[in-house]
Amino acid sequence: MYSGRGERGLRRRIIAGNWKMNKTVDEAVTLIADLKGLVKDATDVEIVVSPPFTALGAVREALRGSNIELAAQNMHWENEGAFTGEVSPRMLRNLGCMYVILGHSERRTYFGETDEGVNKKVKSALLNGLLPIICVGETLKEREEGKTEEVVTRQTKAALDGIKTNEAERIVIAYEPVWAIGTGRTASADEANRVIRIIRSTVAEVFNSRIADEVRIQYGGSVKPGNARELFGQSDIDGALVGGASLNASDFAAIVKA
Ligand code: 13P
Repeated sequence: MYSGRGERGLRRRIIAGNWKMNKTVDEAVTLIADLKGLVKDATDVEIVVSPPFTALGAVREALRGSNIELAAQNMHWENEGAFTGEVSPRMLRNLGCMYVILGHSERRTYFGETDEGVNKKVKSALLNGLLPIICVGETLKEREEGKTEEVVTRQTKAALDGIKTNEAERIVIAYEPVWAIGTGRTASADEANRVIRIIRSTVAEVFNSRIADEVRIQYGGSVKPGNARELFGQSDIDGALVGGASLNASDFAAIVKA
């Protein structure tokens, strides 16, 4: 069982902006132009932006020479074929993506993504050299029924099923309580840290405690400049997956600086 050293050790913080279905190509390029200058001196933190598919190419160009990495918001698990409307891991790698967000609660809720499908995507991402940011988190109903631990443990185990130990350290997990997304309600820093420690214990169970110490786990759900510092002060919170506040360069930069 994971002892929970409560030390950040070698884990480098990672702040990722999930733009969701926002920004045209022109708007995306403008946002990056503003953001680049604001975060250029941030060296001890990894910065990632995740524009919609349509803007990935233009954002990749706009990011050249910057300290910001590119992520996609979703992908199919197959590399090619008759899957109308889908985008493959190989295409994302070719576009210059380093990360891909997988299993976001909006994908699970509105597009029927299952634990099994998320697991297929995680395996395929790793195989194709993409670093997955795996989202887990309970709904309000599940929280009220006392099922938070059960849900995040199930989602984490399912996503990591069959992943080799030597690939595990490339994974990032985002704990995003569904009731905190886009609602202005954040989990308290203590509570977010408590659930993240449960997720870390699950990672230790699936792999080992060394991997659990190394895997970065972000918090997501109404992260703003005003609450970021407290969240990042917690022992096990290694950064944030930011939605709404990542659409504004100065807000996102303020979170990076926190
Ligand atoms: P908000 O920051 O808008 O609550 O969104 C969080 C989120 O879903 C990031 O993936």
